Amino acid sequence: MPPQYRQAGPDNPSRKVITHVCGIVGYAGAHPALPFLLEGLERLEYRGYDSAGVALVESEGVYVEKAAGRLSSLVAVVDKSRPAHVGIGHTRWATHGPPTDDNAHPHTDCAGRVAAIHNGIIENYRELRAELEKSGHVFSSETDTEVIPHLLEAGEGHSLGERALYARGRLEGAYAFLAVSADEPDAVVAVRQASPLVLGLGDTGNYLASDITALLPYTREVMILDNGEMAVVTGRGVEIRDAAGLVVDRTASHIEWTTEEASRGGYPHFMLKEIMEQPDAWADCLRGRIGADGAVILEELGLRPGDLERVLRVQLIAAGTAYHACLMAQRWLEEWARVPVRVDVASEFRYQHPILSPGTVVVAVSQSGETADTLASVALAKDAGFPVWAVTNVVGSTLAREVHRVLYTRAGPEVSVCSTKAYTTQLLVLALLADALADVHRPEPRSSVIPHLQSLPALGAAWLRERRDLGASVARVAAAPSVFYIGRGLDYAVALEGQLKLKEISYIHAEAYPAGELKHGTLALIEPGVPVVAVATSAALMPKVRSNIMEVRARGGSVLAVVPESLADEMQDLADAIITIPATDERVAPVLAALPLQLLAYDVATALDRDVDKPRNLAKSVTVE
Ligand code: AGP
Repeated sequence: MPPQYRQAGPDNPSRKVITHVCGIVGYAGAHPALPFLLEGLERLEYRGYDSAGVALVESEGVYVEKAAGRLSSLVAVVDKSRPAHVGIGHTRWATHGPPTDDNAHPHTDCAGRVAAIHNGIIENYRELRAELEKSGHVFSSETDTEVIPHLLEAGEGHSLGERALYARGRLEGAYAFLAVSADEPDAVVAVRQASPLVLGLGDTGNYLASDITALLPYTREVMILDNGEMAVVTGRGVEIRDAAGLVVDRTASHIEWTTEEASRGGYPHFMLKEIMEQPDAWADCLRGRIGADGAVILEELGLRPGDLERVLRVQLIAAGTAYHACLMAQRWLEEWARVPVRVDVASEFRYQHPILSPGTVVVAVSQSGETADTLASVALAKDAGFPVWAVTNVVGSTLAREVHRVLYTRAGPEVSVCSTKAYTTQLLVLALLADALADVHRPEPRSSVIPHLQSLPALGAAWLRERRDLGASVARVAAAPSVFYIGRGLDYAVALEGQLKLKEISYIHAEAYPAGELKHGTLALIEPGVPVVAVATSAALMPKVRSNIMEVRARGGSVLAVVPESLADEMQDLADAIITIPATDERVAPVLAALPLQLLAYDVATALDRDVDKPRNLAKSVTVE
């Protein structure tokens, strides 16, 4: 395939611009708004962002200042003498789309009298934008967000609250937005539809934020907006209306968290927070990528008819956890699409004079998009004239800029060095890619994997809500000098990731093997009490895995089995402990199996009092060779 793909960048109209996991703050009260807005945004910095902005309401219009880059860039340019008592502020973390001044929030209407900020995804923004442009509205950014101030402008003559309700009725997707208008200079309106939004009640004013962290120095009395609700916030009070427009009577809750706890959403570590965020991250990752007919839409690849048919081979390149995601993807791609796949560790690929045959697409997978070995491998593949795509979590990363096309994982900022939500969203993106390739390479009727992918967020959320107690298994693993992980097929790929999690944050030696491989050497290390984590999500492979577990048991090994509820009986007589995951299609069950493996590593590391989020000797981005 010739290198016909256009560089990902602002000149490419086909890419979908999405911002989410942004930071939102708002204030209406007796004090000037700007100091709170800037401090609130600073408190949200830990979430990661690539641009920032504020809007202050003044009688002659709305003063807006915004800047790409760090908050300090905004602080340098914002007019600090503005006395406005009502305002909104935003830090944008773009998961798709360039972090520029123009794309930074707030966005305004045509007259500059309405400003809005937003967190989430407006799925029908293209249609809305076309409709608004047709009726004369002029847009100045590429974001989905900008439809909001224009929708509010369209409702001129009505109160800001009524206009917000109108906008809520028109917007589709998962989002939260705040808006202000020079026509109602004492109010901020807020709408929540699946993205978090908190109201803070103070003595001298009322606050809004996407995250309690921003509010804590000012108030500990908060109200959480529910889905579909709209609030009008002034210095005098707060009025909340439900999806039907009826006034909601809500009592405030008192928050006891320390600021540090709040920045982790109340969790003791970022890793646990990020584990728990996975179902939402999965939903975000899939959003807009599956059509009503169940077909995969990978708009960002800018594919033309015949492009996928011309993909004859896939070369996957990555490091660490991302490499493990690739090993899972290899099995999906080969089995579903029958397209041959090679997977290489980036640090090896770059020095092994790889043979890339015509028709190969190179896919580099990296959470950070900054891993030196992955970038060097990409440069090599590009120099050889091959199309290179990336799967990454960070918009504007070096990888995103270097490759021909990017698929973003939309996991949101991952702070813990130990990757969790980035891994599982990499799996989902790669599964979508595999399904899209299967559609063209194996058009014969087959049972679709798509509904099963779509059910993962709900299944994962239900499992995490119950948060199984891994009790005795944690103690056994924490006391062991060595732990082995086994699995077959997809389960081997997820076992590899499980052992890396344990090793990385507990410092316990761990290794993963294809279950059938133990007897070729490693079985010599199994003696009484040695923990073996067996992942077994496939009914077809179950008899084989059972035999391998028996080999372990015969040597006194202590087996912790991770199985779907539907296969739990198979393990009753065999395993020392069983963790069940929800029953689902075997093709995607290992994504759910990643959850207990992550939690096992986390629980062991905390039992051993390790520095979970910053394990020794490791960095979040490995930018050196
Ligand atoms: C995972 O927990 C690790 N921190 C590590 O293996 C990581 O996945 C690897 O360094 C690759 O990073 P990347 O995805 O940012 O390229």
